[in-house]
Amino acid sequence: MNPVRIIEAVRDGEELDPDDLTRFLEGYTAGEVEEYQMSAFLMAVVLKGLAPEALERLVGTMLHSGAVLDLSHLPGPRVDKHSTGGVGDKVSLVLAPLAAACGLYVPMMSGRGLGHTGGTLDKLEAIPGFRTDLSLDRFVADLEAHRVAMIGQTVEIAPLDRRLYALRSVSGTVPSIPLIAASIMSKKLAEGLTGLVLDVKMGSGAFLPDRERALELARTMVDIGTRHDVPTTALPTAMDRPLGRTVGNALEVREALECLRGEGPHDLREVTVALVVEMLAVADASKAVSPRGGSEVTSVPEGGTLPEGESPSAAGNGRDPLRARVLEKLDSGAALEIFRSLVERQGGDPAIADDPDLLPGAAVVEEVRSERSGVVQGVEPLPLGRAAVELGGGRIRLGQTIDPAVGFDQLVHPGEHVSRGDLLGRVHASGPAAAQAAAERLRKAISVGSTVPTLLPLIETPIQERES
Ligand code: URA
Repeated sequence: MNPVRIIEAVRDGEELDPDDLTRFLEGYTAGEVEEYQMSAFLMAVVLKGLAPEALERLVGTMLHSGAVLDLSHLPGPRVDKHSTGGVGDKVSLVLAPLAAACGLYVPMMSGRGLGHTGGTLDKLEAIPGFRTDLSLDRFVADLEAHRVAMIGQTVEIAPLDRRLYALRSVSGTVPSIPLIAASIMSKKLAEGLTGLVLDVKMGSGAFLPDRERALELARTMVDIGTRHDVPTTALPTAMDRPLGRTVGNALEVREALECLRGEGPHDLREVTVALVVEMLAVADASKAVSPRGGSEVTSVPEGGTLPEGESPSAAGNGRDPLRARVLEKLDSGAALEIFRSLVERQGGDPAIADDPDLLPGAAVVEEVRSERSGVVQGVEPLPLGRAAVELGGGRIRLGQTIDPAVGFDQLVHPGEHVSRGDLLGRVHASGPAAAQAAAERLRKAISVGSTVPTLLPLIETPIQERES
């Protein structure tokens, strides 16, 4: 196998022999294909795409580059959620304990920040002491005892994705349907799930801003899940503005805690609740299609699995009773309790749940105020995400250490009225020069005018297995 020929074949849009692709990928794992050759290959895929057979081979090789968990001994549905990446997307911090409070097992393995988007691991590690590097044995033991654990992809799980993910983040090779689909699905299929829900972001802050391309990504991933017998639902959600009012690791943990207290921004709450509802629905669907006849998916007591009559087919689209159940677990504080105990179990300071001031704080906080009165036309997520990275909240080099305290908070939302002098948002920075530069970027990212802005719907219709 000549790696250069593989790169050239993809570059020139020639048909790729899937066996050659496997050899190329295995060569990378074995250290025979260099990082610069892999970067070139990834860029060629970004520009030219991959045929379906090659994509399936990519997913399979990444999935089997490590262990595939067998969690079939757990007495209930095992469902995870993964986002295609957004700015201010702190959903997982609320969703994982909430889904566990609703009775699901949630074996959540998350990633670090990718490109201009944040990552759940970096957010969790903003909590003093929090360990995301639990061993697989400990991960499984925590799941057995508490239904939820949140860790990083261990060295055992899809290690090829782990390496490629880090390389893509620093080589401009993220925005690609086959690369995103293979990255997400390889590690999620390795988690031994009975159901998967994907939050597919659309709009200018997403890796695939164009709605049609985002929907194509959603369908591609749902098809992969279906082929691997894991019922998968994709929920398209808006990323033409940041989610919530904060961007930056510790600031996002604070906002997630507000949401776990039944407060916080409406959009974060709605997206989180909608995703958990889909997790419950997909858990129910998994009973019908489980390769083992569904026998391992048994009901879970109190706060447990879907009660009779709450299946999606039972009432209209069946989502209303599920939604009521999810809201109850959120507003009663049940999910917050689970989060508190998860933080403690994983070495973090549980007191942050009651006193978020214990989270790291930035040296400088600078306010940005509106120079005119009017309606907020837009809050551009892409420049804000990039500014958060430049503040030190994300990486531009492999292995870079990040600053958990920096970012933006108190951001306005598009459609809100502001008067001259009102706050548009605040910058949290490590020093005055960085704060000034970020304040300038924040000002440019927010436009104020006189019309009512047109925004993407916050949540679109879920995408599920195609009728054959
Ligand atoms: N999330 C992932 O895990 N991988 C991607 O490529 C994009 C988002």
